[in-house]
Amino acid sequence: MPASELRGRNVVVIVSGGIAAYKVCGLVSTLVKSGAQVRVVMTESARHFVGEMTFATLSGEPVAHDMWAPRSDVHHVALADFADVAIIAPATANIIGKYTHGIADDLASTVLLALDCPLVVAPAMNSRMLCSAPVQANLATLRDRGVQIVEPEEGWLACRDTGAGRLPDTDVLVEALCEALRERDGALHGRRVLITAGPTREAIDPVRFLSNHSSGRMGYALAAEAEARGAQVTLVSGPVALEAPAGVEVVSVASAQQMHDAVQERSGEIDLFIGAAAVADWRPAEVGEQKLKKGDRAEMSIRFVRTPDIIAEVARWEPRPLIVGFAAETEETIAHAREKLARKGMDMVVANDVTAPGAGFDVHTNRVTLIDVIGRETDLPLMSKRDVAAAILDRAEELIASRESQ
Ligand SMILES: Cc1cc2nc3c(=O)[nH]c(=O)nc-3n(C[C@H](O)[C@H](O)[C@H](O)COP(=O)(O)O)c2cc1C
Repeated sequence: MPASELRGRNVVVIVSGGIAAYKVCGLVSTLVKSGAQVRVVMTESARHFVGEMTFATLSGEPVAHDMWAPRSDVHHVALADFADVAIIAPATANIIGKYTHGIADDLASTVLLALDCPLVVAPAMNSRMLCSAPVQANLATLRDRGVQIVEPEEGWLACRDTGAGRLPDTDVLVEALCEALRERDGALHGRRVLITAGPTREAIDPVRFLSNHSSGRMGYALAAEAEARGAQVTLVSGPVALEAPAGVEVVSVASAQQMHDAVQERSGEIDLFIGAAAVADWRPAEVGEQKLKKGDRAEMSIRFVRTPDIIAEVARWEPRPLIVGFAAETEETIAHAREKLARKGMDMVVANDVTAPGAGFDVHTNRVTLIDVIGRETDLPLMSKRDVAAAILDRAEELIASRESQ
């Protein structure tokens, strides 16, 4: 049993009112033993078959069944947000029908409509019910929508009939959950991803520094999205006013040199490197030990020297990770981005005209063009930074998969 694939995964198990509900106790127990966090949602009918206490004890969490129980959050949305994957087991003819037709009249059916993760449906019922035209039509519709249906097994049924309709054993249900997660995770699952984000600060003296307008939002969105795809993510972040994304290791730095050192420390350990930080190209050559006094000078000049080129150094690592960089430009964005892609030896550059409305620094949206090493150029519309992150990671996953198939 591929238990390791479930470690740390959040699974919502929806139990509806079929006689096979008792078998799902074994499923919940196996998921918990595999290291998954499990929340059980029961329909009112299911509670006639198995006591809530059994599922609460096995999952280590209260069972959810009441839409109207007073809570500080919106329970059906919170449960759906929690889920990396969900399963209805056993799935009655009734809940299959409700889900297919968008009916949300109890907690279980409402959670189903709020899900944003893969769903496995394990129908179990009398074989005449299973073969009935409405149930077959509903299952066909769900299959077309990408829902994974676990085929019911043939055998002796609790209604004393023999035929198709039995809920398969726990290992079949666990494999279906793993399969659903694999499909969703893509190439980033279990990969080590290193992302830089935010601005750097280059000290002039103990109280002054040189910096830029980067908010870090793009890098943080990338880190959250990579983590949601099952990657182990380290975010080397300049000074920003953002919360660390859940499950991501954040290394806080200030200067370009510190960012470079934090990145270099991870040399050889990374599958995907994304340089989303706005790293200063220059730093003051001398840093005043004390605050520089203005005195009676009308002018003053600072001599600058180059900061280390983080991405170019990552490109020399052995083994070399897939490298994605950003080109934040104010003119001739695509030409500059192409030149940067080649010069730094990157696999993809995200060209970002920071002067475009809704794009660039300190806003929640972005408008970018993805240019990759095999010459594809994709102009994306204005989207949230999280959606841009998803599009960048989709392309990075393709490039990782094609690199590995060579
Ligand atoms: C003893 C008994 C066993 C049942 N077994 C099943 C079953 O295996 N599959 C099924 O689809 N319905 C079964 N039903 C009918 C459902 O419980 C019924 O359709 C109910 O409305 C389902 O509600 P739910 O989908 O909200 O859980 C059974 C009913 C009883 C009384």
